[in-house]
Amino acid sequence: MSFFGDLFKKSKTDAIYEVKSPNSRVVLTFMLDRGQISYYVKKDDKVIVRQSRLGIALKDAAPLADGFGIVRAYSRMVDDTWKAYWGEQHVIRNNYNETAIYLEETERPSRLLTLRFRVYDDGVAFRYEIPAQPEMKNMVVSDELTEFAVDANSRSWSIPAYQPDRYEYEYIEHPVHALTDSVHTPLTIATPTGYYISIHEAALYNYGAMTLKLNNGNLKSDITPLSDGMRAYVELPFSTPWRTIIIGHDALDLTTSRMILNLNDAPREDFSWVEPTKFMGIWWAMYVGEWTWAPGERHGATTEHAMQYIDACKNLGIPALLVEGWNDGWEGDWLENGANNKFCEATPDFDMKIVTDYGRANGVELVGHHETVGFIDNYEAQMEDAFKFYQKYGIRYIKTGYAGSKMVINGRREFHHSQLGVLHYQKTVELAAKYHIMLDIHEPIKGTGIERTYPNLMTREGARGQEYEGGAIQPSHACFLPYTRLLAGGMDYTPGILDVTNFAKRMSTTITRQLAYYLTIYSPMQMAADRPQIYENMAPDLFEFIRDVPVKWERTIPLLGEVGKSFVLARQAWESSDWYIGGITNEEARRVDLYIDFLEPQVNYVAKIYRDSEDAHYRDHQLGHVVEERIVRNGDHVEMYMAPGGGFAIKLHKQ
Ligand code: NOJ
Repeated sequence: MSFFGDLFKKSKTDAIYEVKSPNSRVVLTFMLDRGQISYYVKKDDKVIVRQSRLGIALKDAAPLADGFGIVRAYSRMVDDTWKAYWGEQHVIRNNYNETAIYLEETERPSRLLTLRFRVYDDGVAFRYEIPAQPEMKNMVVSDELTEFAVDANSRSWSIPAYQPDRYEYEYIEHPVHALTDSVHTPLTIATPTGYYISIHEAALYNYGAMTLKLNNGNLKSDITPLSDGMRAYVELPFSTPWRTIIIGHDALDLTTSRMILNLNDAPREDFSWVEPTKFMGIWWAMYVGEWTWAPGERHGATTEHAMQYIDACKNLGIPALLVEGWNDGWEGDWLENGANNKFCEATPDFDMKIVTDYGRANGVELVGHHETVGFIDNYEAQMEDAFKFYQKYGIRYIKTGYAGSKMVINGRREFHHSQLGVLHYQKTVELAAKYHIMLDIHEPIKGTGIERTYPNLMTREGARGQEYEGGAIQPSHACFLPYTRLLAGGMDYTPGILDVTNFAKRMSTTITRQLAYYLTIYSPMQMAADRPQIYENMAPDLFEFIRDVPVKWERTIPLLGEVGKSFVLARQAWESSDWYIGGITNEEARRVDLYIDFLEPQVNYVAKIYRDSEDAHYRDHQLGHVVEERIVRNGDHVEMYMAPGGGFAIKLHKQ
């Protein structure tokens, strides 16, 4: 028996190949059965994915799915360790066994296809590689045939695909057999045999994003189509994104996997210029109706307001300020008029030079804003100039936005997550890197780990964020995110709204839960989203936590939680001995017993605790909270109470 697995080759068109994880517990079996390709996955001898079809269907050509013979198979073992520029974990191990199966059609046109499998201790990944070849120069993909035949009685938590609000929906639990419409990935599934799995993709480039749909009772990839119905137009050689299945024993296991990042390449250039940050914004005042994006009497982005907010950032210790609505084009119904946006011209009441000079003099940098409203043709025509414009004023961060149900690309309406959408987002990331600019993308393409290769892609929205509060978010929503959306990478949830009772935009949270979000929802660009006067006057005791909490972590340890119910975790600050613990619950109150076994032994830590009071409630007593200090040592138990819709945050610092 070989270290990697075994090839049982019966003939050229019949073969079985096993690829084993480094600890041998996860086994992916590739099958060639009379020329047809398929795979299945087991963990500890239990079936995770039953025999599932592989293949790619093409326009005007036979599918790449059967008629194959094996040319050769090649295996290798990789065990690398790499350091992230920022993230939830500083040092990451990338350890897997890989097998590439080289196939050739046994009859003319004798097309070539390679399947590359990587098996990790925490899951499996594979992709299709189509080499340059005499009989095929390019491909028009009409469908991808990849199946993920999980037990149809499994529970799943999903958001629907192809909807007007992109990824911004509440997660719903369905048995897999009831998933009649396409759903986005990452798709989280709990099998009747007790495993939790997440089906997703890594390294999505130049291809439609994968959604999943039931087909003959099995989950099957449904690649987002272009407006002409095709899924992708590619030149050869071409590799599809990795198809990934993370496998855990409980939902918390999924959160510790770094497989998606590991499947992406190391950066090809130096990104030591990237720097996580915290920022306030001329922003929430628009949501609570005090100011407007568009010019007029209540215009938010004026020179005067920006200078006042810069003063506030300086006084509060927040290093950056987002300004939305400074540019020309927001008039009237800005969602309708998005094609008018000018990205290098300010409104008459905003002076970019005065504001950025004032910011520089006060140690506060600006986060620029590009709201494209999905009018990509308009944006791309100005994009390079717009990046140069920001660079000229020393602006290193841009929040981009793609509001609108579809994009306008080449004059046609396309899905954000179609191949053309993916290509556009990629263009912005590469152009931003060229100008040393870091991005926070709203209405983004979902995360597939490309921030490993492009660490200037700091964060994205890509799920319902706090701007949906005021009725459209239930407390359970943020308890779904760690096990679903956040498996795809960091999220700009815009935490830190302490004016939780505001009648114009009421939060379904207690006030301390707003602090917990800085821990439970990772983002290297983290917003202090409320207005400065709230931090200065309403809750200075809580703001202190928002100011101090780090935006990158040495390591992260999930402590307890269940999908949609709760999530509690500990994070060690980057290159520091400080630890932070945070937790959130759904509509139900919870008392949790935390066993602290990650601190340095025999050392006293001062724990500053921000928690819900016993009578706090997200509906009628949101402000009830307690701030207290106590000494905690390794081996201690700490009991924490979380009110309905509540949460807690703790900072631990060596005494
Ligand atoms: C939607 C974004 O999510 C939000 O943060 C932004 O303020 C608006 N679009 C306007 O760009």
